[in-house]
Amino acid sequence: DVMADIMGISNLRDRVKEKLGIKKVILVPGSCEENETLLRDVARDGAEYFLSILKDGNTVAITGGTTMLEFANAVKTDKKYENTLVIPARGSMGTEVETQSNSIVAKLGRRIHSDFELLHIPDELDKSAMKTLTRVPEIKNTLDHISETDILVFSIGRADVMLERRNLSEEQKEEILKNHAVGEAFGHYFDKEGNVVYKINTVGIDFDTFRKIKESILIFAGDEKVEAFMAVAETNKNLVLVTDEQSAHHILGQ
Ligand code: F6P
Repeated sequence: DVMADIMGISNLRDRVKEKLGIKKVILVPGSCEENETLLRDVARDGAEYFLSILKDGNTVAITGGTTMLEFANAVKTDKKYENTLVIPARGSMGTEVETQSNSIVAKLGRRIHSDFELLHIPDELDKSAMKTLTRVPEIKNTLDHISETDILVFSIGRADVMLERRNLSEEQKEEILKNHAVGEAFGHYFDKEGNVVYKINTVGIDFDTFRKIKESILIFAGDEKVEAFMAVAETNKNLVLVTDEQSAHHILGQ
């Protein structure tokens, strides 16, 4: 019955929050195996939470990927956040235009009627080219804004999946896997204990900035990502997690 289901979910939520020691947990009933559109529901709850904490004037950083695309699509408000700035958390990544952080930034900016800035930085530049680029005033300006992020919205990936998606060289892949990476977030690869074992050579949010951000909303759906998530959750307890019921059960089982 409905009441028992609600009680079940809130109990599960409390146990996950206690196990991880993080700030808040939001759970959507169901499992991604049984419901292909569950990611959309998880993204919608993430969007609702985001709007509940967003204040005009905040700087909002967001990453790329399909989860963040669903998130941006789920944000709906008539309110105009004219003094808010939306920026990508890191230099652009990947080859897919739709799921690039820049595209998602533009989408989210339009949805909350705010300003936004893009970062046009190719993946994996050599060090000196990267240095030169970061001195370009427009880029430097955006990087300064990133270091002042009030709200970060991001997802995580399995290290093995992200290695393939990013077209890394065989040597890079080997190094990352040799160091037992299980998860990836904003260009950082983590092992099970939450150690950063590899960093993509790009600009934007680094680990120290990440740990200082007041509001970090981590959204993911699908229990195949649980191990990756656990690694990231080891590194920062100041997180709001939005996920599905099935993944929550797996978190408790880890
Ligand atoms: O590439 C950007 C990124 O946010 C990664 O940091 C993350 O691992 C991945 O996308 C998540 O992608 P998806 O939501 O498509 O699983």
